[in-house]
Amino acid sequence: MIEAASAEGTALAWEVAAGLNARPRVLPCRLLYDSVGSALFEAITLLPEYGLARADRKLLRQHAAAIGAALPRPSVVVELGAGSARKTRPVLAAIPGGFAYTAVDISPEAVRICRRALAETPGMAAWRGVVAEFLPGLEQAAAERRPGQRLTVFFLGGTIGNLSRDAAAGLLRGIHARLAPGDALLLGTDLEQNPARLLPAYDDAAGVTAAFNRNLLVRLRRELGAQMDPAGFAHEARWNAAERRMEMHLRAVGEQAIAIPEAGFACRLADGESIWTEASYKYTAQETRHLGATAGFEVVAQWRGEEWPAAETLFARN
Ligand code: AVI
Repeated sequence: MIEAASAEGTALAWEVAAGLNARPRVLPCRLLYDSVGSALFEAITLLPEYGLARADRKLLRQHAAAIGAALPRPSVVVELGAGSARKTRPVLAAIPGGFAYTAVDISPEAVRICRRALAETPGMAAWRGVVAEFLPGLEQAAAERRPGQRLTVFFLGGTIGNLSRDAAAGLLRGIHARLAPGDALLLGTDLEQNPARLLPAYDDAAGVTAAFNRNLLVRLRRELGAQMDPAGFAHEARWNAAERRMEMHLRAVGEQAIAIPEAGFACRLADGESIWTEASYKYTAQETRHLGATAGFEVVAQWRGEEWPAAETLFARN
């Protein structure tokens, strides 16, 4: 329960306190991505268990020429949640006649890494980094488009899965509203499969995903002066069959106290009680096409992984 309130509490302190006070207790997954979290996520993409990143890299490499040729031109690629963008390079290099590129990411560190990863990509006429959330970042890029330029939004790596199904539909509508006729969207989704393969993907043997999850608490301690013991929480990956999503939780090992003095908040978690930190919704290939179509896009093509089920779907904004 919120035991006291301080008018000086920052927006983040209040958001965190409200989440910890809710049932289930929840923390926003965007907070996983400070500079350490972004680096840990990069490490996750190299794990043998995390097949999604491998599938994504393979699909984008294998079909680079077909994807590149199908994009509208002259193209400004706006990559939402760009991360390191290493996987994107083969497609960019295959865009006939070159391209301009804008990376949108909430982590300044990720934007810096992206710049390095894409340096010397063949055909890149201009590079820009925007530290922002998805739609404000896209809005900036759209405001700067020159006459005749086409925007292609890249939203890859299954990041759409980290939004609720309603929020995902809303985001695609928001992207559609910010694009103009002739623009395009390339959307990457992780597809449904046997949870027996998904569980280790979110709870790997080396403990990288556990560190990624627990780093959220370390971050709150550092940035908000939150009082708690991150080592008192265990990482847990769960498959929620009813919602068709993977979930990450931080489970209290023994009774755990958390205080956010800036928001005048304090709570106690009983042994085994957990904080929900991430949802990762899985889609069918057909649902992915439907998701874009209901936002107003037209399906141009879809490429699917064989070894790990993932899809890249190209949509036109007509
Ligand atoms: C970024 N996103 C698509 C990843 C996912 O699979 O939901 C984040 C992640 N969480 C745990 N492992 C990877």
